[in-house]
Amino acid sequence: MKPAKFVLLPAVLALSLLPEMVFAQTDPGVRSDTGVNAGQPLASVTHNANDLAFFQSGLAQFSEHQTVTGDNPGLGPRFNMDSCGACHSQPAPGGTSPASAIFPNVGPNPQSQVIANVIVNGATNTIPYFVLANGPVREARFPFFFDQFGFPNPNAPNGGVEDLFTVSGRADAGACSLRQPSFNAARATNNIIFRIPTPVFGAGLMANIDDSTLLANRGAQANNNLGISGTFNHNGNDGTISRFGWKAQNKSLMIFAGEAYNVEMGISNELFTQDRPLPGEDQFGSGLLANCLNLAGTGYPEDITHSDGTSASTVTSDVGLFNAFMQFLDQPTPSTTSPGGAASIANGRRLFSAIGCALCHTPSLTTQPSKLTSGLGNAIANLFSDIEIHHMGARLADNVSQGGAGGDQFRTAPLWGLGQRIFFLHDGRCSDLLCAIEAHESNGGEATTVEAVFDQLLTPSQQQDILNFLRSL
Ligand code: HEC
Ligand code: HEC
Repeated sequence: MKPAKFVLLPAVLALSLLPEMVFAQTDPGVRSDTGVNAGQPLASVTHNANDLAFFQSGLAQFSEHQTVTGDNPGLGPRFNMDSCGACHSQPAPGGTSPASAIFPNVGPNPQSQVIANVIVNGATNTIPYFVLANGPVREARFPFFFDQFGFPNPNAPNGGVEDLFTVSGRADAGACSLRQPSFNAARATNNIIFRIPTPVFGAGLMANIDDSTLLANRGAQANNNLGISGTFNHNGNDGTISRFGWKAQNKSLMIFAGEAYNVEMGISNELFTQDRPLPGEDQFGSGLLANCLNLAGTGYPEDITHSDGTSASTVTSDVGLFNAFMQFLDQPTPSTTSPGGAASIANGRRLFSAIGCALCHTPSLTTQPSKLTSGLGNAIANLFSDIEIHHMGARLADNVSQGGAGGDQFRTAPLWGLGQRIFFLHDGRCSDLLCAIEAHESNGGEATTVEAVFDQLLTPSQQQDILNFLRSL
């Protein structure tokens, strides 16, 4: 892969003639200025009363905290958190992980509500070792099932989500007694990996890019000298390109919403109709115990389309409303001046393409016509992703396969909204952009050469321009 560097040299050297400043490059940090519209609906949605009503009902559902029984029933018996918004909240509903979602003393109502569901009201949960004050929201997966001696069995791939908490011990959980997964045992045998939330700003645009556009983009990148050759993950049901999640394992926002309602909160719905046991309980056990079923007392599925609703948004199921909210969320607007000023950001954008970052992080793709709302149609999605999965090498590999994506393959992370994110990479291991970029360099990773160019051929001031550009997004 070495010769590639020389191919790039002229471009990089030309750019290095620009005036240099005397400081070491640093991540400017989470951008706090205004001028971004993260969390806002598309303009075309605000101009249509019916669509806006859907968006607002969706936002309300997305932010609502669920309980086992009562007004918003169905939580559990296993769950990770009690609302979409508790995990997707930075810097606005729909975003990514806040700095601390479930610790006491971190403030106002949403958090206390989560705590109430997790560790008070008699709940018997202990907080897993990896859920840290000021750490990201983390979900856990065990790459392999354990054998009878308690060791991970490499011939028995698992990789499903191990829900952190149970409703056991709470008055409204009755006699349902469940144990949390053995996170400490998984840690001791090195059989645990983590995932943090991905943002859903602009998700409707991503859902509305035709496969032909993605394939043409891939074709245009194909002849690079940098060792980059991504593929697509495909949906098992209809064979088309899937696009959501860290491994592009999920086809649509509706399916993701149904899956998340069941996996994250334990709420069965019209897409995923049973309460969900842990992967091991379903594969090798006897499923959920009878006294853990139908805790809400409503029958299944717990979330349904309401034939007695009086308006479109009250007929629609919660899953349908989550979908509407996510479809209608606009992409974030980048800043042209902050951080570092317009010249630095513009130079960073040029360098980002010149050294090959943009071969995976495609700056923009155009959507197909939309029947949902005009703002989603023939629009430019500035997502900075090709939606392809790439081999990222041993350093980032998590040994979990999802659909066609293997253990070290990940979807090029869309970078829109990056300026206001706190945690980076699939497991949230970095909160500094340099750390995230550095992790691209790994044996067997397609981004290794590009990362080496960033590291070794750019001056500190050029690196700073790229960091400023990234934080302007
Ligand atoms: C416990 C935290 C948590 C909760 C609660 C949660 N999510 Fe997520 N969400 C995640 C994580 C983690 C991912 C990344 C999953 C992966 O690919 O491994 C994610 C990814 C997503 C994505 C994929 C976006 C993309 O472009 O990749 C969508 C859509 C989504 N969540 C919707 C929802 C909805 C709707 C709800 C509520 C029903 C919800 N989530 C509740 C943690 C959460
Ligand atoms: C071979 C394709 C590829 C190239 C080239 C590439 N990236 Fe990435 N990038 C990815 C993938 C895949 C991820 C997600 C990896 C993970 O989470 O494990 C990612 C993640 C990131 C993230 C973290 C985003 C998040 O949501 O957490 C940043 C920042 C980033 N890349 C910047 C860059 C920069 C800057 C360059 C050029 C120096 C670059 N990337 C080159 C594929 C690539």
